[in-house]
Amino acid sequence: MIWMAVSLPIAVLCFCITTANARNHFSSGSIYNTIITTFFTNLDLINCPLSEISLPQSTLPAPSEGLSLQFLTIGRGTQNYTCATNTNTSTPEAIGATATLFDASCLAALDVDTDFNDSSSESQSLLHLLPDVLRSVPLGSADFLSNLITRVTGQDLVIGTHYFTADGVPFFDFRGSSSDSSRATAESWVAAAKDDDEDAPAKPGYGITGDVAWLKLTRVEGGISEVYRLHTSGGAAPATCEGMPEVFTVDYTSEYWFYG
Ligand SMILES: *[C@@H]1O[C@H](CO)[C@@H](O)[C@H](O)[C@H]1NC(C)=O
Ligand SMILES: *[C@@H]1O[C@H](CO)[C@@H](O)[C@H](O)[C@H]1NC(C)=O
Ligand SMILES: *[C@@H]1O[C@H](CO)[C@@H](O)[C@H](O)[C@H]1NC(C)=O
Repeated sequence: MIWMAVSLPIAVLCFCITTANARNHFSSGSIYNTIITTFFTNLDLINCPLSEISLPQSTLPAPSEGLSLQFLTIGRGTQNYTCATNTNTSTPEAIGATATLFDASCLAALDVDTDFNDSSSESQSLLHLLPDVLRSVPLGSADFLSNLITRVTGQDLVIGTHYFTADGVPFFDFRGSSSDSSRATAESWVAAAKDDDEDAPAKPGYGITGDVAWLKLTRVEGGISEVYRLHTSGGAAPATCEGMPEVFTVDYTSEYWFYG
């Protein structure tokens, strides 16, 4: 039953994504609208409690004593790179990233069993599966879906943005979210610096490679103390610049955990 509650919205989600390109908009009263309304209006999609949620396992240092989880998001955007030449004598250089941060607090509690043939298999958090699922969705379609959910449910999933300042400092900002019930305050931002990293674990069987590293970042300035980038999907540059333009982007999706 729990599985049904989780799988139906996902099925609808996938359905929306596959039909999104074919239909430019969902006219009111259409079958799509009805299905989506039925399944999404009864669900809390944002602002679920964070107090019981603990950081996933990694080799990164734990959050500092006394901090608590302030925001749990899925980030979707691009990692940006430059190449000095277009040959294999140079390697891509990271110049920053830009991403939209979607509230994932309500997904963290949902588990799904991905191995239907093995009743003893451990179920996985839906949250950790989402980066790989969303990676195959074009950026434009993800925006479309997010807008649709907002329109139908009145809940705005977009709660923050991530970008790099002109000085190349990673910046996360939750101010100015349009969600009425958002937990953001005037202090909900951080300019951060990398504290530690870990290669993204291999995903045998997924046929997926090229995930950007997992990170822990700490505050340089702002009201959020520590940031984790975990369960990344995509975003890594090719090994060399062979055949690459001077500036290029690689789509990525990732969990971002914010402590303050
Ligand atoms: C780089 O490209 C050159 C010319 O195509 C090739 O001979 C060489 O083996 C390549 N080196 C690497 C490390 O791929
Ligand atoms: C990354 O590239 C995107 C797309 O070209 C651009 O909008 C964004 O400003 C870039 N961000 C950084 C930090 O370079
Ligand atoms: C599940 O088991 C059936 C029958 O043994 C097999 O045909 C099928 O490929 C299996 N599915 C997965 C996902 O392993």
